[in-house]
Amino acid sequence: MEKFDKKAIDAKVAAGFPLTDRWHNRFHLEMPFGLINDPNGLTFADGEYHIFYQWNPLGCEHKNKCWAHVRTRDFVHYSMPELSLWPSDEHDKDGCYSGCGFTEKGKVHVFYTCNAKNDGVRTPAQRFGTLQEDGHVEKGAIVVPDSPEGITGHFRDPYLFHRHGKRYFVIGAQADEEKPRGTVLIYKETKEGWQNLGELKTRLKDFGYMWECPNMLHFGSYDALIFCPQGLEAREFDRQNIYQAGYIAGHLSLDSMDMMQHTKFQELDHGFDFYAPQVVQHEGRHILLGWMGMPDKDAEYPTSEKGWMYSLTLPRVLTLRQGHIFSRPAAELKALRIESSAIDIDADMESKVLTRLFDGSEVLMDITLGEAQKVTMTLAYGLEKTVFAYDRTTQVMTIDRTGMKNGGRGVRRFKMFVDNVLSLQLFVDRVAVEAFFQHGEEAASLLVFPEKNIRPELRIEADAPLETVTGRVWELDAFH
Ligand code: FRU
Repeated sequence: MEKFDKKAIDAKVAAGFPLTDRWHNRFHLEMPFGLINDPNGLTFADGEYHIFYQWNPLGCEHKNKCWAHVRTRDFVHYSMPELSLWPSDEHDKDGCYSGCGFTEKGKVHVFYTCNAKNDGVRTPAQRFGTLQEDGHVEKGAIVVPDSPEGITGHFRDPYLFHRHGKRYFVIGAQADEEKPRGTVLIYKETKEGWQNLGELKTRLKDFGYMWECPNMLHFGSYDALIFCPQGLEAREFDRQNIYQAGYIAGHLSLDSMDMMQHTKFQELDHGFDFYAPQVVQHEGRHILLGWMGMPDKDAEYPTSEKGWMYSLTLPRVLTLRQGHIFSRPAAELKALRIESSAIDIDADMESKVLTRLFDGSEVLMDITLGEAQKVTMTLAYGLEKTVFAYDRTTQVMTIDRTGMKNGGRGVRRFKMFVDNVLSLQLFVDRVAVEAFFQHGEEAASLLVFPEKNIRPELRIEADAPLETVTGRVWELDAFH
């Protein structure tokens, strides 16, 4: 299949940097052309993180799924992205779907789903591969040739993990063709090969028709299963995107194949544009990257007209506390900070704070509410605006994107408790906005496509004089 000519495609990518379209972000991973989605193959080797991600180098549709690859030692400097894995035989002719990465004896390996569709029938096979010096992945053994009995063709996105010195993988699946139901299966490595241990039991009932992109994580004595269920109904304060990305935390028993005493399902992010996250563990940190996008919502992303689509999120470090995952931007990102100015407003007299942001900013801010019950933080691009509104009485945060002309609109709501101080860490790139509330307790990612090429203003308003607003605004450097 010559359409995936690595040399030609790599040259075209290199020629596309630095990225010129004004909607391209400055410090988010993106491609000059084509559509990217899930982060894949995350691993650390020889002083560098390897980041792969789904990429259609031939257009802005969800087809021709390949893997792109970049390396970074610090999430600030990146190697030039390149084409690394692409459909080449009968097993993966309809896409090299998502999978994980791992390092063994200094070599980077990947484990991915080969997608083949014949007469409408999907045959998903799970296959290993090894990254070569020239940046391409040499395909290796297929270890699971098809979905097992009772599982439909929706069987994909394997994620390797270790327990008691043994290797396992968890994989997203759909059970029961008659009445499709999302689930995950676990496989164990044995001398004879990979043994299917069956479905992981959870207490989740009626929980969608497919679970994609699972990750099995270990935090001290707790385990957390991250996954992306499809087919859940929206509720007033959660599940408001077409598909979700979240987790349950508990204790994984591989003997009884049960996630014991697990929490309810919680979302990792409450914004509009976050899906298919993957976590890499290194030196005790759990570092998450997500896809800033959403399946089946391409129409909401106007950059397709310019020949490119989607970004990856900033790296987030996860911690688990009382059954809840906190996520905070990785400390390495501080290296992006250039100039800063203080926000220090004794807001008693004035319930409005205006700060013009940079062409790429980070805002760290504590808003002491005092008498105020309602506070809004508005990103204003001239007359267009995106509003974060917190209501202390109902304990609800609302993100409102209806004031933007281009791209997806609508509102998202979620519950969050704030006593007196609302803490916000906000990254505002050209179109990617990532907000972290209450020191990482909640996060929200969204893309806003301002019509005019203007730097946004950040406005804080409240229904009563705020006690104080303190913090700092940084100008952030670009990756390239
Ligand atoms: C999630 C997903 C995965 C699949 C990949 C294909 O966004 O649908 O389940 O492997 O994307 O690009």
